[in-house]
Order: sequence, then C-alpha cells, then structure tokens
Amino acid sequence: MPNRPIGVFDSGVGGVSVLKEIHKQLPNEHLIYIADSAHAPYGNKGAKMIRARCRRITQFLLQKNIKALVIACNTATAVAAESLRAEFQQIEIIGLEPAVKPAVEQTKTGVIGILATDQTIKSARLAGLIHAYAMDIQVEKQACPGLVEQVEAGLFESKQTQKLLKRYLQPMLAKGIDTLVLGCTHYPFLLEPISRLTQGSVTILETSIPVTQQLQRVLSRNTLLCQQTKGQIQFFSSQGESKKHRESIKLLCHQNIKVQELPALFS
Ligand code: DGL
Repeated sequence: MPNRPIGVFDSGVGGVSVLKEIHKQLPNEHLIYIADSAHAPYGNKGAKMIRARCRRITQFLLQKNIKALVIACNTATAVAAESLRAEFQQIEIIGLEPAVKPAVEQTKTGVIGILATDQTIKSARLAGLIHAYAMDIQVEKQACPGLVEQVEAGLFESKQTQKLLKRYLQPMLAKGIDTLVLGCTHYPFLLEPISRLTQGSVTILETSIPVTQQLQRVLSRNTLLCQQTKGQIQFFSSQGESKKHRESIKLLCHQNIKVQELPALFS
C-alpha cells in the first residue's frame, strides 16, 4: 500500500537534514521521524549498544506500518545496517554513507577531508569506501567528538562549537583539502560556521540528496511511491517533547512540528 509512511531515524536531530530533503523531493510521502536523543551521541558508543537501539527503533516503526526505512545516520548505517537488513527483510532499508566517491570525482588538489563520528571514522564501511574509490588520493579523516552534542543542544554558533570546528578543520585545511565530506548528518546544521572557516576555498558535500534519490528509486521499483496530495510528518523523540528539537526542525524544514515522546517500551 503506497500510502503507508516511511520511517526515518537518527541518534538525534541530525537526520532532520535528511528528513527535510525527503519531504522536499517527495512531498506526498507520510514520514515518521525518530530522534533517539536520550541516547545521543551514538558515535562514541559501542557497536552492541548502537545495534540494540537501531533494532528497538525499527520495531517501533514497524508497528507504525512503515513501507521503508531510512537510516539517516552514518554511524548507525556503518554499525547496524547489515544486521537490520538481515532481521527485517519485510521492508526496504536505505542507509547512508559519507560522500567519498563524489569527493574523489570533484577534487582538484587530490586531497579530501572527511569529518565524522569516532565510530564512522574507524568503521570497515568507511575503509571500504576509501579502498574502492580513493586509493590514488590523499584522504584526511577526522573524528569530531563533541560536535554532535553541540548540535543536539542547538548551539550551532557557540564559542565551544567554533573552537571544536577550528581544531578539527585547520589541520586538514593546512594539508590542502579542496573538498570536505560531512560524514555525519548532524554537521549540516553547522554549515555556516564551517563555511566561514573554509572561506569558500572548499566544496562541502553531504548526503541528503543522494539518499533521497536512492529512496525514490527503491519506492518506484516496488510501486510504493505515494500519489496523495500532502504528506504529513510525525516526529518522536526518546527525550520527549522538546523546544530545542522544535526549533531545529523549524530551522531546516520551515514547519512547526509537534515533538512526541517515544513510548517507554522503545525509549
Ligand atoms: N548523525 C549521526 C551520523 O550521521 C550520528 C551522530 C552521533 O550520534 O554520534 O553519524
């Protein structure tokens, strides 16, 4: 049934950068978003815990009768996509990964930078992408502890956020990167301070557009694209109702969306 919703989740509000693009490109689709903010960040947690959270969230979304699942989180994709696909074969699961291939295609200096969480930076998935596409160029990888917390707190422009960004970006700028991959869905919230630091010298890539295109292809292939006039967004957080979340959603989606509490069984 094409008018069933699509589930989208992240460790917190980061995946709203993906939700926004899905809603823009596929405005007929009903979307249910889960921000697992009570357990954010995922990036410094163990794989076992991340897999358990992803499993719990998927079970909740299946109760909501979703037709497809978008893992709007690089970390969760790197750690849990395979186990989710093995367990929940009844739905299509679309993950996302750092834009290494597009970065390699665009770089002129032959030096690219990747900002991501600890878990993503050390993942076999990222190593595989680099091995497949980036063996002939210089890849500057940087784990960014602390950034997700700043975004979750809505502190996009705070002194601490700018200090962290400087610490993570300056060494790779000094090495001559001309292309920067935002390998975490929280980082597009920091596009302005990042652009200021890179002073237009760097092309910044994130993944919301390719993941939406992939979702569209998958839905179309399965004749699951919804033809209704206006898709609705439902938003749940494991942290409950929060003003911060409402503001973050409004910033990217330009909509006032109610934040509901994820039921205790899944929190
Ligand atoms: N937004 C996530 C990602 O894309 C997770 C960040 C985190 O919770 O550490 O990796």
